[in-house]
Amino acid sequence: MSAGFSTRAIHAGQEPEPVTGAVNVPIFQTSTYAQKGIGEHTGFEYARTQHPTRMALERCIADLEGGTHGFAFASGLAAIDTVMRLLEPGDHVVAGDDMYGGTFRLFDKVLSRYGLTFSYVDLRDTGSVRAAIGERTRLIYAETPTNPMMRLCDLGALGSIAAEAGVRLVVDNTFMSPYLQNPIAYGASIVLHSSTKYIGGHSDLVGGLVVTNDADVAGRLAFLQNSCGPVPGPQDCYLTLRSLKTLSVRMDRHCANAMEVATYLNQRSDIGTVNYPGLATFPQRELAGRQMRGFGGMISLDLGSLERARKLCAGVRVFTFAESLGGVESLLCHPVSMTHGSVPPERRAELGITDGLVRFSVGLEDVADLIADIEQALGQ
Ligand SMILES: Cc1ncc(COP(=O)(O)O)c(C=O)c1O
Repeated sequence: MSAGFSTRAIHAGQEPEPVTGAVNVPIFQTSTYAQKGIGEHTGFEYARTQHPTRMALERCIADLEGGTHGFAFASGLAAIDTVMRLLEPGDHVVAGDDMYGGTFRLFDKVLSRYGLTFSYVDLRDTGSVRAAIGERTRLIYAETPTNPMMRLCDLGALGSIAAEAGVRLVVDNTFMSPYLQNPIAYGASIVLHSSTKYIGGHSDLVGGLVVTNDADVAGRLAFLQNSCGPVPGPQDCYLTLRSLKTLSVRMDRHCANAMEVATYLNQRSDIGTVNYPGLATFPQRELAGRQMRGFGGMISLDLGSLERARKLCAGVRVFTFAESLGGVESLLCHPVSMTHGSVPPERRAELGITDGLVRFSVGLEDVADLIADIEQALGQ
């Protein structure tokens, strides 16, 4: 479809169901399908391999990311794990040095045991990226903005480096969602999401999505999805599809609320740097304007001490102190003790993930209530 984003989110891959005309894609709660005779089936044989509710979701996300093929998984990490299984033992990955702690744990503690090697570099520095690419490099793996420091990498520059070196660029687009950023347009060949976050949007499911525009990669991902079996159930596929329909309106409000909260935090004299790509003070503000269509709902900042972070986390009443992000409700997280506990302390120190760092996922509540909540928890 060449229609606008919201139209595609509501219709792509979601034709009315042919038997009854049901407007919503049904939850096909089945594990298998009757076959007429040997070798005679409808295209659906077994639900791990093909599933109509999942297929609708996969077609919709492929369309929204500007790719040709989509794949749904039981979690974001299952999606990442499956993408990494495209590699062979001995292959090398250049990965960002600031990324979700669970992704780092998967690379460092699990996949390295199967012969994959990783170099972690600051992806803002294209010279370091080029220098890290070697004979056996197959992938550049990027998050932008990063979790939790909100650093950006230049997708167009990384896309060109990947193309020159004959390696694939993989981008975790969880923080932006397909509404705000489409890495395939900049040269990525694989984009993935933890759909647990903005795509699901209501903190009521765990899921992962992968999109590619490469038919060879798509064939191999379909094989892995079926051979390893990390698939989501039909209820979660339905909920994810339902959530996609409102992604654009939710993201607009996330962006508007986060901009106001970030501006408030930035003007407080007792808070240092506020990491939010929409602020004029954000060092990569120009790049943000170039490759993102909005600045998202995530903010991080350093309160300077564990004591102050503890006071804020214990004091908030509208924000919920919890892991995860991207839901309608605002969440507050302390990366060192929560999402990034698996990152070694030396690396955390290098990146600025200090004991005083807190991360806000700004939700869809009335923004005045969110600001008042932070103010009462921190003190004036
Ligand atoms: C940027 C990012 N990628 C991937 C994941 C992993 O996704 P999941 O928790 O759905 O497995 C997360 C989870 O927090 C994340 O923040």
